Amino acid sequence: MEQANHLPRRYIVCVDDDRALLEGLTQQLDAAFADTHEIEGAESASEALHVVEELYNLGSVVEMVISDQVMPGMKGDELLEVLHQRYPEMITVMLTGQAGLDSAIHAINYAGLSRYLVKPWNDDEFIMTIRELLAKYRLEQENKRLFRELQTAYQHLQEAQEQLIHSEKLAIVGKLTAGIAHEIRNQLTILGFAEVIRMAVPDNKQVAQYVQNILDTRSRILSIVEEIRQFAKNQTQSYEKVQISLVNVANTALSIMTYDKEAKRRSIVKDFQTTPILTINPDKIIQVIINLVRNAVQATEENGTITVVITENDSHAILDVIDNGHGIPPELMEDIWKPFFTTKGELGTGLGLDICRRILEGHHGRIYCRSAVGAGTTFTIELPLEDTTTEA
Ligand SMILES: Nc1ncnc2c1ncn2[C@@H]1O[C@H](COP(=O)(O)OP(=O)(O)OP(=O)(O)O)[C@@H](O)[C@H]1O
Ligand SMILES: [Mg+2]
Repeated sequence: MEQANHLPRRYIVCVDDDRALLEGLTQQLDAAFADTHEIEGAESASEALHVVEELYNLGSVVEMVISDQVMPGMKGDELLEVLHQRYPEMITVMLTGQAGLDSAIHAINYAGLSRYLVKPWNDDEFIMTIRELLAKYRLEQENKRLFRELQTAYQHLQEAQEQLIHSEKLAIVGKLTAGIAHEIRNQLTILGFAEVIRMAVPDNKQVAQYVQNILDTRSRILSIVEEIRQFAKNQTQSYEKVQISLVNVANTALSIMTYDKEAKRRSIVKDFQTTPILTINPDKIIQVIINLVRNAVQATEENGTITVVITENDSHAILDVIDNGHGIPPELMEDIWKPFFTTKGELGTGLGLDICRRILEGHHGRIYCRSAVGAGTTFTIELPLEDTTTEA
């Protein structure tokens, strides 16, 4: 009989120590159920256990075992009890003489006995009974399958709902930030007066330097505001890029960090082993480095050490920000990248790493993290040495 390979073969196993009876039984079942089931015979309980195990090992399913009660060695009720424990879904049927009713009752209680048949039986009734039991089995299996499907569908629904809530949150954030961005931009115009100060004190180099710092910072704040606005719109930006040395960019970022009170109390070590020239948006990469160094500062004790390493391989420039801080527990390693995930309470918004990831995506680069609790954390960014963007 041909059966599709991926469907398990379905078996009925008959057990009787009387060979003639066993043959009669298997033939009778074969005649009735050959379309749907394979029929196997066993002459003792131990053989039956062996046969069932073999069939399961081959990936088949034994849907039903029909066993005589009185046999040498293990009795029918004991056999069915063992099988019921191992394969709770299996249908167990017992054949008894009048004298065997006690064991049938025992089997009902302990072997999940589906039916017992008292010898001698009417053949038509016997087949009808077996047919009913098999149909019930099918139905139960189908029920279970549907239930599993329902569970999966429910789970998908829940995930979709969470996603929806998340998108809704982002939409609100989007509206808020658009307003805030507008407001910040307005406020920043006042910094343009720094230009007036420079003109008023034309010969003072110190003042000129301060003014330049103010103007640079203003443009950096503007670009951060823009970044947040883009984030809320949920897009990866493509940036205006220039050729620049990563060492220059890292130096600028670290010099900005010297204004940070907390950072001042850490030792920040530069280990720039190469000077790769990249095609990047310097402001964005400065922003990434500042985010990473600020996180490192927040994760370390006073006098902690933060090391910024620059190396390169065949295809990428590599920048590591290494700290000897408290580290990140393994179960949070995925969460840290999610927007709004923070362990800093009021002090964090949880956007830093999400923004870094987007900026790296916008540069065809990547960012990843390794960490050991109590030992420290390394964030690594990789930027392609050749710019692969095809600007539209
Ligand atoms: N160097 C680090 N050491 C230990 N934990 C870190 C480190 N960097 C990031 N984390 C963890 O990742 C979380 C998310 O960082 P992320 O920069 O995205 O947000 P944040 O720092 O909490 O808030 P903000 O939006 O102000 O940056 C942090 O709250 C912290 O738990
Ligand atoms: Mg941060």
